[in-house]
Amino acid sequence: MFKNLMSWIEYRMPFMEKMNLHVMQYPAPKNFNFWYFFGSLAMLVLVNQILTGVWLTMNFEPSAERAFASVEYIMREVDYGWLLRYMHSTGASAFFIVVYLHMFRGMMYGSYQKPRELLWLFGWFIFLVLMAEAFMGYLLPWGQMSFWGAQVIISIFGVVPYIGDDLTLWIRGDYVISGATLNRFFALHVIALPLVLVILVFLHIIALHEVGSNNPDGVEVKRENDGTKYEDNVADKFTFHEYFTKGGKKFIVDAIPFHPYYTVKDIVGVVGFLILFCAVVFFAPEGGGYFLEAPNFEPANPMKTPEHIAPVWYFTPFYAILRAIPDQLIGAIAMFAAIILLALLPWLDRCKVRSVRYRSVWHKLNLVNFVISFVVLGVLGALPATPEYTLIARIAMTTYFLYFVFLYVYSKNEKTKPLPVRLS
Ligand code: HEM
Repeated sequence: MFKNLMSWIEYRMPFMEKMNLHVMQYPAPKNFNFWYFFGSLAMLVLVNQILTGVWLTMNFEPSAERAFASVEYIMREVDYGWLLRYMHSTGASAFFIVVYLHMFRGMMYGSYQKPRELLWLFGWFIFLVLMAEAFMGYLLPWGQMSFWGAQVIISIFGVVPYIGDDLTLWIRGDYVISGATLNRFFALHVIALPLVLVILVFLHIIALHEVGSNNPDGVEVKRENDGTKYEDNVADKFTFHEYFTKGGKKFIVDAIPFHPYYTVKDIVGVVGFLILFCAVVFFAPEGGGYFLEAPNFEPANPMKTPEHIAPVWYFTPFYAILRAIPDQLIGAIAMFAAIILLALLPWLDRCKVRSVRYRSVWHKLNLVNFVISFVVLGVLGALPATPEYTLIARIAMTTYFLYFVFLYVYSKNEKTKPLPVRLS
């Protein structure tokens, strides 16, 4: 009976066929290293955020009068409410750690290069929506930092010429940040943006499976014709699945079926991740004041500015750029440019070789420059803007932007190492 039911469904909606195509038999390059954990980990964190978020919503009250108290209620009265909340707040930081590492992997191995530009762009949009999602979520507990952080970020939009004031009014839904702002942020945070995120992740995976995965060598997986000629297995989309179902003389080399090889390998990543995640959730849920900031344990007070306003750590690299420039408008433009340049990487990098393994020493140094600049900006964005720190932030901002300029210049005629034909 079960078999009949399955084939009845399969005939009308080939679910198992699609699962086979996109999961079980997906031909993944055989040389993935630990950097390839972070895509599946990002999916795991997304599921964690959605599930814990749904349960938090059951007891959270999105009003200026009740929001702070309802979070305290969740922490103290709701069964395992503290666990739900800490899993959600730690999950937010974990999301950015995982996504930043995932993006950096793409930069190291040139995964954004042709034909994976669209895949990269979907990823970039995910990053953008994720930032909006995290920003809106942070207002919800209605603590001091929720309020004043939102005040700073929303006021950035006020620098837009002519429409700035109207724009901030439109975002807030009031002349000041109020219950109206909290209410709309709640609506966007719990349904609109998660929906967009899930759709974007779906498109991200579809785009990935259309062209296949890149790998640490940045060399395409090959298709073998009659055991003699090798060609890149990209355009034809010839999969293991087709090979198994239709037969044929061509078959893929250098790739292995996703299941069981990478399902098993990814479990190693998941276990490692969960050990770290649980260590934070159970022993250091505030993450040393970086995951949950100290002023947020006080209810929002529009009459009292916290001594030092800093956004959560994952925004600080971009916040440091905003603050490094005295002119507000130019600061805001520089901050958005720092994010937009990431989207343009497929076109700024003109080198034919993808992986850092086979690229010039200039490229290696430039990538190191990118990491150092990003980390220095991140650290400074969390500290008060003293004259010394501002000077260092200006230098780090300059070197951050120079990464993109240098890349564009040297990548055209870069001296690269010879590429292997096959993956080893
Ligand atoms: C919710 C966030 C995200 C999820 C769930 C996600 C998921 C995935 C998964 C499952 C893969 C395949 C496994 C892997 O290669 O690690 C992947 C690949 C990829 N992702 Fe993401 N991703 C996310 C965000 C991003 C972002 C922000 C970017 C870049 C801006 C990005 C760029 C890429 C690229 C370039 C690949 C292909 C890598 C390669 O084949 O070498 N992703 N993603």
